[in-house]
Amino acid sequence: MIAGRVCLVTGSSRGIGAGIARLFAARGARVAVHGRDTDAASRVRDEIIAAGGQAIAVTGDITSAAALDEMRAQIERELGPVDILVANAGGNPVPPMPVDEMSEEVWRTTVDMNLTATFLTLRCFLPGMKARRSGSIITISSAAARRPHARSPIAYACAKAGIELLTQDVAMQLGAFGIRANCIAPETILTERSSRQIPQEMQARMASEHPIARLGTVDDVAHAALYLASAEAGWITGIVLDVAGGAVMPR
Ligand SMILES: NC(=O)c1ccc[n+]([C@@H]2O[C@H](COP(=O)([O-])OP(=O)(O)OC[C@H]3O[C@@H](n4cnc5c(N)ncnc54)[C@H](OP(=O)(O)O)[C@@H]3O)[C@@H](O)[C@H]2O)c1
Repeated sequence: MIAGRVCLVTGSSRGIGAGIARLFAARGARVAVHGRDTDAASRVRDEIIAAGGQAIAVTGDITSAAALDEMRAQIERELGPVDILVANAGGNPVPPMPVDEMSEEVWRTTVDMNLTATFLTLRCFLPGMKARRSGSIITISSAAARRPHARSPIAYACAKAGIELLTQDVAMQLGAFGIRANCIAPETILTERSSRQIPQEMQARMASEHPIARLGTVDDVAHAALYLASAEAGWITGIVLDVAGGAVMPR
């Protein structure tokens, strides 16, 4: 059950985040849709409202603590304090390359837009959750962080592995305050962007490498997030859930 809960999904102007925002709103959550692109965030908000849900749109670069503070203030004014935080925004800016050929700038940018941005996002919302003694946090890693793989860009994989540990640390520190923190690690998910970027024949080859022989959908991730966010997952914290069609099987 997440009905009536206030939920922020960072990076929900498109892709996986938009899918999470739509599903959460369909289940009765009051959702803050977020991105840097005001038009795209407003479109997702309008779709949610047209479908009978409740949503607002907020914009800001989450590598900036000041922008996050402004967003939090706007959400609290318009919807109330955030009960469910999905720290989804991030991405991989470069193709895989050998470590010795990677520039310092690529490394720093990748870590900044994934690990540092997630740290800043959690730091912005945790004090309020702590004071209210409740909250559910979901962060987004990647299958890239779950095992070495020739197709995984290493800076991105390292940043996402850091997000997993950060999430588990928050789970350990803040369980006593009624706060749960879990992480989802998706394998390749077909979004508007990835469907465009990955050629069809490569999609087919990649799909065949999964025990469940297809690539993931936005809904696969959204339903996992819905469960982790819900009261039904009340005794689950500190996990990394592989939404990966069986491509990742940690023991
Ligand atoms: N798709 C996959 O195969 C896959 C697999 C594993 C993990 N993931 C992870 O899942 C998450 C979502 O991925 P996606 O494929 O849905 O990406 P996407 O389609 O590129 O969307 C990324 C979203 O994040 C927002 N964003 C990125 N950097 C931001 C920043 N600095 N400040 C504010 N907003 C920012 C974008 O906002 P604007 O566009 O409005 O600027 C957009 O809403 C990412 O963390 C990604 O690493 C994706």
